[in-house]
Amino acid sequence: MTIHIGAEKEDIAETVLLPGDPYRAKWAAETFLTDVKLVNQVRGMLGFTGFWNGNRVTFHGSGMGMPSLSIYVNELIRDYGARTLIRIGSCGGMQNSVAVRDVILAMTASTLSTPSRGIFRDLNYAPCADWSLLNAAAKAAEKRGVKTHVGGIYSSDVFYDERPDLNEQMVRHGILGVEMEAAELYILAARHKCRALAVLTVSDHLLTGEALPSADRESSFGDMVQIALNAAFPS
Ligand code: HPA
Repeated sequence: MTIHIGAEKEDIAETVLLPGDPYRAKWAAETFLTDVKLVNQVRGMLGFTGFWNGNRVTFHGSGMGMPSLSIYVNELIRDYGARTLIRIGSCGGMQNSVAVRDVILAMTASTLSTPSRGIFRDLNYAPCADWSLLNAAAKAAEKRGVKTHVGGIYSSDVFYDERPDLNEQMVRHGILGVEMEAAELYILAARHKCRALAVLTVSDHLLTGEALPSADRESSFGDMVQIALNAAFPS
């Protein structure tokens, strides 16, 4: 047990898929895994471990934003031995070529700040995805016929952004989408020699104002989970 995770050490798999929303972890575990066990519910942050095609997997909520994700990912890696960590979440589209429902595989995650800022200070570290996961996810997405974009995203500290000028610069520099967790996930994975990737569904669009209807959210999330599972365990 750790401060934020009530599981026994052996309850957590080496491969952890991280939705922001704990209820998404529950839905994904119940939908895609067999022999599912609830392994954490401290502070309502749910974690489940089970099997997918014979492979042991944990779905664990990360919460929203990098400080929350940092707590769970630090404990999952350092105390529970997680080695492959894939964020499955949503993002706001930032290019006209990107549409609501599309999937973005985040090759890099730019950010203004992260919980790791104190380490890097004035260095602009470049958080990037693990190539083997990124490559396998791109292949899995293509096989499923999901429209997918691979490129840079932006991990923001705020959902209600008071700096439209920064978004403008992100758009101008080809950033595909904005979310709030991937950069710190990539930094922690690098620090601890783990593999990480963020697989993101475009749930809303900053340029068009379009948003994914709630009826479509479950099927889009399901696609993303299957891409992540196939990336973690390529056949
Ligand atoms: N901003 C930040 N995070 C997000 C967004 C957004 O527009 N959409 C989904 N996650």
